[in-house]
This record gives sequence, structure tokens and C-alpha cells, in this order.
Amino acid sequence: MSRIAYVNGAYVPLREAAVHVEDRGYQFADGVYEVIAYRNGRMTDATGHYDRLWRSMNELSIEPPMSEKAMQLVIDQLVRRNRLNNALIYIQVTRGVAARDFKFPKKTGQGSDSSLVITVRPAKLDHTRQLADGVKVVTAPDIRWKRRDIKSVALLPQVLAKQKAYEAGAYEAWMVDDDGFITEGSSSNAWILTREGKLVTRNADNMILKGVTRTSLLRFAEQAGVEFEERPFTPEEAYQAVEAFVSSATTFLLPIVEIDGHAVGNGKPGSLGEKLRAAYLAYADGEKGDDTRWVA
Ligand code: PDD
Repeated sequence: MSRIAYVNGAYVPLREAAVHVEDRGYQFADGVYEVIAYRNGRMTDATGHYDRLWRSMNELSIEPPMSEKAMQLVIDQLVRRNRLNNALIYIQVTRGVAARDFKFPKKTGQGSDSSLVITVRPAKLDHTRQLADGVKVVTAPDIRWKRRDIKSVALLPQVLAKQKAYEAGAYEAWMVDDDGFITEGSSSNAWILTREGKLVTRNADNMILKGVTRTSLLRFAEQAGVEFEERPFTPEEAYQAVEAFVSSATTFLLPIVEIDGHAVGNGKPGSLGEKLRAAYLAYADGEKGDDTRWVA
């Protein structure tokens, strides 16, 4: 069965899905996006992703292409037409099509001029191998702009960082700012558990993307009485960690067993990460956030 995408009002076969060459997303990376896991027939953390998409558009003065409710209807249609139960939903909104000119184009009419593309891609989302073995990360300089809180489609620095990781045999790159502190992964947030038993992830300001998964995981950690700190940490501190992990919509939470060649803890996936992932998936499955289900 051929996959179906949504492009500016039409459901089209993916191989025919295309945007105009003068789409500002294509020419200027003038757009924003979201990735949402669709697991066992349900959207994961949908509210958080919609809220962030609307915030990203707002920060860049991109007019929403439609209401959140209408967008959800399109997504429902798409997963139905693609007959998927487990998938990754990709939503991209750009400032639309206009003759190439840096400044914002003039509004053309009543409705929104923004472009909207939504695709759904089958994904198993069970991460069996990465959970069993853990993953490796390497550090790389963070060469991005200073509005990393906006989920912009301008991802070239992350592309280069991820490629560097891949070439080093690692799963993810943890990017390091000019002061020597880790910001986040190229497409995930970064976490460590210190020897003192503190869960640490960087505070969410303009220097990182405030992950939707990150926000939920922090809530579960808090509910379970895990001590945590939102603050920057260095690669050296991470090398000493007893556990480390990444979080994102596509991975939920994956354990890290090696950072720049240094084994994390005993070199095996740790138990806090495992418990937090389980709590997240239970929440995603629609179970009430029962904080007594597990103890840190
Ligand atoms: N990336 N930091 C960056 C730079 C990211 O690109 C992502 C997500 C995250 C995690 O955010 P969330 O938990 O809301 O997915 C953090 C998506 C998955 C992507 O670009 O594919």
C-alpha cells in the first residue's frame, strides 16, 4: 500500500507529495515542526507537542495554518488512510510560498498563507536492541543559533553533529556550548544520574529545546521522589555519572552506556532510566499517573 501524506489541504501519495520551490521552508528554513509518536493507536503527549508547535509559530510570527482541532482531524484521517497503529507523525509549518525575499511576505488574503505538511511513517517504537545494549554518545561543539527553544526546521548543525556521532559508531551527539557545558543531544535531551543520586538535566531556557518527553519525565521523577536538578553539566561530570540517558518523542528514553569512550556506571543500562521509561509508557498508554507503581 502506498503511503499517503497531507500537503496544503490535499491527501496525496507520498511519492507525489511536494512543496513549491519558493516555499520559504525550502529556501530559508523559515518554518517549524513537531514529531509525535503514535503508539498502539494513540498520540503520545499530544497536548505538549501541540502547545510547543503553537509556541514555535508564535515566536516566529508564523500564522497557524488551521486550528489545533482541525489538525487533529487531519492526523486522524492520515493514520486511518495509512492503516497505522504505530507510527511517527511529522508536522511541518512554514511561512508559505512567496518570491524570494528575506523579509516576511505580505498577507495575500483571508486565510493563513502558511504551508502545512503532515506525514506519518510506520515505526515499531519498541527500541528492543537499544534498550538491551544501551547506546553510545560522543560530544561535539554546539554550533547552533541562540533560539534553540524554537523547534525550527533549520537543523544543519544537528545534521552535522549526528553524522559525526554515526561516523564515531555512536547513536547520538551531545552538543557542548562555548562554556564547556552540554546543552542537549542533536535530536534529544540529555540526562545524567550523579553518584550522589541526583537526576540532572539542563534547565530549559533558550539554550535547549524544552522536550515534551523531558517535561513528562521530570514530572514522573518528582512524583516518585527522585531528587533532580535542572542545571548545565559538563562532559567530565557526565563521565562520572552512574546512569545517563536521552529522551525524545521518537525514543521516549534510551539508556546510555558510553560517553566519549568512558563507560557509564557499570557499562550496562541503569535501573532509574528503565523505571522512568516504564512510567512514561504507562502514561502514554493512558494509565493514570500512578506514582506508587514504582519506587526509585
Ligand atoms: N527531536 N532536543 C532537540 C534538539 C530535539 O530535536 C528533540 C526532538 C528533543 C526532544 O524533544 P521531544 O521530547 O519533545 O521530542 C530535544 C525530534 C524527535 C526530531 O527532530 O526528530
